[in-house]
Amino acid sequence: MMNENYSAVAAEYYDHKLHPTCYDFCRFSRFYLESMLAPDDVARPILEVGAGDSVVASILNGRNQTLHGLEITDASKQMLAYSTKWSSLGAQLRVAPADELDRPDRSTALIIASLCDPYNTPKFWIEAARVLEEGGRIIATIPSYRWATRYRGDRHISTAEFVLTNGQKVRLPSFIFDLRSQLDIFESAGLHLINFFDVGPAESGLEITSPKLNAPDETNLSVIWGFSVKKNTNGIIS
Ligand SMILES: C[S@@+](CC[C@H](N)C(=O)[O-])C[C@H]1O[C@@H](n2cnc3c(N)ncnc32)[C@H](O)[C@@H]1O
Repeated sequence: MMNENYSAVAAEYYDHKLHPTCYDFCRFSRFYLESMLAPDDVARPILEVGAGDSVVASILNGRNQTLHGLEITDASKQMLAYSTKWSSLGAQLRVAPADELDRPDRSTALIIASLCDPYNTPKFWIEAARVLEEGGRIIATIPSYRWATRYRGDRHISTAEFVLTNGQKVRLPSFIFDLRSQLDIFESAGLHLINFFDVGPAESGLEITSPKLNAPDETNLSVIWGFSVKKNTNGIIS
């Protein structure tokens, strides 16, 4: 049974010495998000789900763009606390589970879900599609399926294990699917794929620091998958 949530790992999550795998996933995820958020094409309102320390706020602020119109959410109060610093710059913060966002239908132009594997469920994608305007976009990343099958194996593919400094092991949900199954989840939610990118060191120019992500016998390493999906307009794919 997995009763824990990210609050159990929040204190250490962003410590790159203690958790280099999280550190690498965050950097590769940011690479994809940054490449998909063209400076002159960031539609608002923006909703970030499962945000932890908001990568969207960091990207926009780094470009001197306003954080007004950005809502940062997370199911864990402790993870959301990393984003407190962005509220004085105009972002709104709220504790909210990704599959129950408590926002009106069609109220959001852009949704960002960085490393969304803990809640990558049909229920989340249906909820995200509900709050998205017609024609709106969702940009999301997950650890790559190729990495997950190699490192976790088939039996543990839906579990992320963290070993804390005190030796405690925390197992958290992590839903990572093959590409066909992931696309089926999008389609069932009324979403269609507009971009897919398999990001590793070759594509990003980033180095891997975590031994868990390295595989000396593999030539083209894959770290994260990035997806951009669009909401179908009146059932029509545009
Ligand atoms: C792998 S971390 C990624 C954090 C951040 N987005 C990043 O890229 O650095 C996953 C985040 O999702 C949040 N989370 C987990 N389950 C969630 C759920 N059901 N609804 C909303 N957020 C959730 C966690 O609290 C955590 O902050």
